[in-house]
Amino acid sequence: MKSNTAKKLDLATAERDQLKIVIVGHVDHGKSTLVGRLFHDTDSLPQGKYEQVKAACEKRGMPFEWSFLTDALQSERDQGITVDTTQIWFKTEKRDYVIIDAPGHKEFLKNMISGAANSEAALLIIDAKEGVKEQSKRHGYLLHLLGVNQIAVAVNKMDLIGYDHKRFLEIEEEYRAYLKGIGVTPTFIIPISGREGDHITDRSKNMPWYQGPTIVEALDLFKPKPVLDELPLRFPVQDVYKFDERRIIVGRIESGRLKVGDTILFSPTNRAVKVASIENWHSPAQTEVSAGMSVGITLEDQIFVERGNIASHIENAPILTNAFRARLFWLGKNTLRVGSRYTLKIANTEMQVEVKAVEKVIDTGSLASADSDQVERNSVAEIVLRTRGVAALDAFENNSVTGRFVLVENYHIVGGGIIDVEGFRDQRPAGRVKSTNISEVDYTIRPEHRAVQNGHLGGVLWFSGLSGSGKSSIAKELQRRLFDKGYHVYVLDGDNVRRGLNSDLGFTPAERSENIRRVGEVAALFADSGAIVITAFISPYKADRQRARVAAGDKFHGVYIKADIKTCEARDPKGLYKKARKGEIADFTGISAPFEEPENPDLVIDTAKSDIEQSVQALVDYIEKNLVEPVKEMTLSYRGSEI
Ligand code: ADX
Repeated sequence: MKSNTAKKLDLATAERDQLKIVIVGHVDHGKSTLVGRLFHDTDSLPQGKYEQVKAACEKRGMPFEWSFLTDALQSERDQGITVDTTQIWFKTEKRDYVIIDAPGHKEFLKNMISGAANSEAALLIIDAKEGVKEQSKRHGYLLHLLGVNQIAVAVNKMDLIGYDHKRFLEIEEEYRAYLKGIGVTPTFIIPISGREGDHITDRSKNMPWYQGPTIVEALDLFKPKPVLDELPLRFPVQDVYKFDERRIIVGRIESGRLKVGDTILFSPTNRAVKVASIENWHSPAQTEVSAGMSVGITLEDQIFVERGNIASHIENAPILTNAFRARLFWLGKNTLRVGSRYTLKIANTEMQVEVKAVEKVIDTGSLASADSDQVERNSVAEIVLRTRGVAALDAFENNSVTGRFVLVENYHIVGGGIIDVEGFRDQRPAGRVKSTNISEVDYTIRPEHRAVQNGHLGGVLWFSGLSGSGKSSIAKELQRRLFDKGYHVYVLDGDNVRRGLNSDLGFTPAERSENIRRVGEVAALFADSGAIVITAFISPYKADRQRARVAAGDKFHGVYIKADIKTCEARDPKGLYKKARKGEIADFTGISAPFEEPENPDLVIDTAKSDIEQSVQALVDYIEKNLVEPVKEMTLSYRGSEI
């Protein structure tokens, strides 16, 4: 074993660069052996460890086993004995390496969300004896999915095939062609023997035909990812603690930096506020914190913040959307289908999602993509997900933490992937909450308490559609049906609200916008009070509806009352179309003013196809499923809780 005490001291004291690598490959392909070797050959082993394992092997009368070395290190690490190694596994002259082990797909995906898989490069192992198997392809695809594009492929166990050059070339060619198909160029493909130590740190005499770098040379050539500090700030709220009068917002800075005095914006609530302090429990107070740190902050104004909100700076905020495209790796036992619902986790935010579309399913082996509307276990697919409420997220290419997600079903991770927002509009409403010196009063009655008492969740059923589409008629009947069931329900109707609260508003785009803004806020308050509020407004502009959605958060349910202009004009219940055609009403929706169709409604009621009774029934079913069913489970856990 090489030993250079002077060099070791240097390494220990100097500021060292660090690179996170993920090692993928099947245990049988010699992963542990390779890791053991890497340790030993780079002189990174704790003192005496090699000798200890050697003695143990000799005692059992067996040759030295490299994987035992790795196992021994691993178990020490798991027990937290060598705590100070903080994941640093081996060192080269150039830098320290942190190894993220990815034993299987499950762990791989779990690591994705914990951030551990934020690796900058990968070492992928193929067994030379077995050649390129389905699993090696899947591993390559997973790396691609995670956006890891610096890949060194180790073709291991070359000793077992007699260091056969021809066989190596075949494997190399096959795997290169596969990776090329998914748009990945492996940086290096290296013939090695973990057991014999060929091409780990030293050139191998057994393979004079190979001119490329050794494993360690290859790793040293990889470039570090841009540090997360330099990306825009993402601070997902983990919890809000209350100490006397102060509220401390706690979480981990996932990317960027945060300073006392910064104005930060919370998403999806779209509220901006100044950071008053950065709290510190152990060390002296800090005025600036950065990516990777878990912190607590206090705010200058006591705005409402809850777990799952994401703080950013105003200029570089995450995208707000209720739909996005995902590249998904599916592990669930149950088939994923259009209409399936899961819990979506992004960083530490959680929300309900529904699969809106399966766009293509990709066979990771052959790379053929098929049109299918369902995804089976171990497949990769491109799907569109729709969230309950608005989610704050990023495209994976912009932020690898808030740009990836996992799906959870019955407490199990069943899939994961990365987010692509191309073609999806940022739905962040223009204008932020500007009020200052406000203190949001936090009352002790929780929404759950109200829900249990009412037997349903509060919610806004936002009807949008042309004049004459049937909004008011359906709202009227629906209100009756819900009232008869004992639900707490109320209708806000354009024709009524415009006589009181909004009597100062006409029908110019700006006035309609203000009409909808006020109604959106009022509806959100109603929903917060535990009521089911039905709003019947044309609400012709997407941006305005979006603002209403943000105001009510996950209590918002967009319902498109659909009927084309011809049908509405033929119905003309108030004779307004006739007047509009004669030019007696200006800016009449559908005639002389636009109607922007809802893009992602939670429910579509097509009144050209179904009568009032059928429409109302569809809405009652929807309400039972989304506002009543969830409370049935809740009753058990909240019964008897103090109010
Ligand atoms: S919105 O566009 O601002 O959402 P809202 O639903 O409040 O409209 O009001 C629509 C109702 O106002 C219609 O049902 C109709 O009775 C009446 N109305 C009067 N003038 C107009 C107009 N120019 N365009 C549409 N509706 C109008």
